[in-house]
Amino acid sequence: MIEHKFILALVALFDRWVLALVTFAVTLIISANSFFGKKRMSHENGIALRGRLRIAADARMPEHDFFEQGRTFACRIRHGAASFTDDAKLVVRSASIKFADSRSKSPMDILMNTGRMPLFWNARTFVQFMLRSMAGKGKEYVPYLRAHPPAAIGGGDGVRRDPVSPHRLVYQTQTTSGFIGRDKVFRYARYRLVPVPFDGEESGLPDEWDRNHAWLQNPLFNETRNRNYLKDATRELLASGEVMRYMLQIQLRLPPPDDTLQPEWIAADVPWDETMFPYLDLAALDVSEALSYKEGVLTWFDLCHHPKSLPIPKARSIDDAHSLNHLRLAGIWATRARLLSYRLTGVPPAFPDSRQAKDWKGLPPMAKPP
Ligand code: HEM
Repeated sequence: MIEHKFILALVALFDRWVLALVTFAVTLIISANSFFGKKRMSHENGIALRGRLRIAADARMPEHDFFEQGRTFACRIRHGAASFTDDAKLVVRSASIKFADSRSKSPMDILMNTGRMPLFWNARTFVQFMLRSMAGKGKEYVPYLRAHPPAAIGGGDGVRRDPVSPHRLVYQTQTTSGFIGRDKVFRYARYRLVPVPFDGEESGLPDEWDRNHAWLQNPLFNETRNRNYLKDATRELLASGEVMRYMLQIQLRLPPPDDTLQPEWIAADVPWDETMFPYLDLAALDVSEALSYKEGVLTWFDLCHHPKSLPIPKARSIDDAHSLNHLRLAGIWATRARLLSYRLTGVPPAFPDSRQAKDWKGLPPMAKPP
């Protein structure tokens, strides 16, 4: 019995050591990429906005010190796209909320992507995905998607084409974090951001072809709009006096009774049943102003911005679902590397409107980009 416990402890130690090693290697690679590329490792294409957030929690929610009913925050939200610098591409899109009107400092940041499932669900699959991205994206993703059917489903589920506006999409955290209410009970939490009003529909959903070929991300051949059209339209909408309204919602779930059930409970590729764990209203968000390009570039989000009562659970191995957030916490070094590169050589210029510009990439190559 003692021997058995000893072996288990050794295995756990080895798992943590591998996780530390993988985290170090990934952080080094993405930090170098952010420093020398002078760009966000992911979601480089984006626009930052300013607004107000008011806690308007559903009566079914357990009371929580941070989410106190009626509390208001000046806030920022950045809408980005997970890769490529072209608003017309077929891409996963994002909404990151900062509970403060600041470039960095904040009591809480929440980062969300479109789709119910991501393309990877732990550090192991993230590394495999990252290697395919480094190999050149596009068709390079196909072997990974073939080997991991949930990734193919996640890719098709997450991409959006041609949304009418960033505030007509649904964004989700996908990974699970912690929630400790005034009752001191630990629960798992997932967040999502929906348009107001929300009828269950969202804009930009992929058709069947796009859903099944999510790695073919080029704009359509007959695209008439430029690379920045959606950000320009968002600026115009807000300049006209329109307010973009959203609702932040939360899904809560008690931990499993038995540790062996843990993986299914928290896996990013296993969404929770919404009839059993409904999304509850948490905060109303009204956005009224677009920030300048430079202010957007200098605004960054960090998972470690959270109160103690909304913890990020610790990961035990590269196969643990929490290992995704473990990597993201270390990703702060990539952000620091990016910001350092700006300090040394200045903020890079915004990318041009034209697809004839040298930095534009078609995958597969397009002879005459639209
Ligand atoms: C389901 C999992 C994930 C989600 C939902 C997610 C979401 C996001 C979002 C929304 C952004 C854009 C933030 C902005 O607008 O500035 C972002 C950026 C970023 N993500 Fe992730 N991410 C995930 C996994 C990861 C993983 C595994 C890593 C690995 C380290 C990572 C590293 C980064 C980095 C380095 C940035 C750019 C930070 C900067 O330079 O400001 N993400 N992510």
